[in-house]
Amino acid sequence: MAQPVGATAHWQAVYARTESRSASWYQDQPAMSLRLLSAGGVGPGSSVVDVGGGASTLVDALLDRGVTDVTVLDVAQSALDTARRRLGDRAGAAHWMARDLLTWSPLRRYAGWHDRAVFHFLTDAADRDRYRRVLEAALAPRGQVVLGVFAEDGPQTCSGLPVVRYGPQELAAQFPGFVVLQAEREEHHTPTGHVQPFTWLRLTRADQLTPTWAPAPAPQPGRVV
Ligand SMILES: C[S@@+](CC[C@H](N)C(=O)[O-])C[C@H]1O[C@@H](n2cnc3c(N)ncnc32)[C@H](O)[C@@H]1O
Repeated sequence: MAQPVGATAHWQAVYARTESRSASWYQDQPAMSLRLLSAGGVGPGSSVVDVGGGASTLVDALLDRGVTDVTVLDVAQSALDTARRRLGDRAGAAHWMARDLLTWSPLRRYAGWHDRAVFHFLTDAADRDRYRRVLEAALAPRGQVVLGVFAEDGPQTCSGLPVVRYGPQELAAQFPGFVVLQAEREEHHTPTGHVQPFTWLRLTRADQLTPTWAPAPAPQPGRVV
């Protein structure tokens, strides 16, 4: 139970002392997230949940692109408030959930699951199991998972918390039953000019892939082929 202990207090304190645009993870344009979601067919008419979305500008960008069913979930209410203030009148177009994703029981499913810089905080195997159970419950059939975590050569801590760093194979191994559709590496430039390498994966459930090849059907008795 490494993460839940004080997770709310920890992250509320982080957002209280850090202006959202100066947080190390801040991005003006969430280009890689948008590229991977779009490659997975997540667009207007799709539903997306951004877990640990905080004050990210992803919700703005998705709304700009006509994705009207966007949920931002974060343990820090203050981060969600920052995003809502930024969006102004448009804030009502998104759904906001202030809660710990590890204890979340989703009441519906989403075509897109997006996580940038959250899974890597789960240093405890039991928390990663919880994460996978929530993901399974929240993901729609043929849903797309877009995950970005610190790469093998990325930072070892973030916001004073240890992280687990992953290459594409190690991250894929965390999600048995899923297949990798796309793997990317990104060098994120923090507002203070540091470079943080990220590993990104786009995944879907293995049992819901549409085969691109199938054997020809066996001739049926009495049917002329
Ligand atoms: C490094 S920040 C990344 C924020 C955002 N994804 C982005 O890319 O801008 C990590 C975020 O995860 C949230 N978080 C951490 N643990 C969480 C948990 N167990 N449940 C929900 N949110 C969590 C934090 O409050 C914080 O907003």
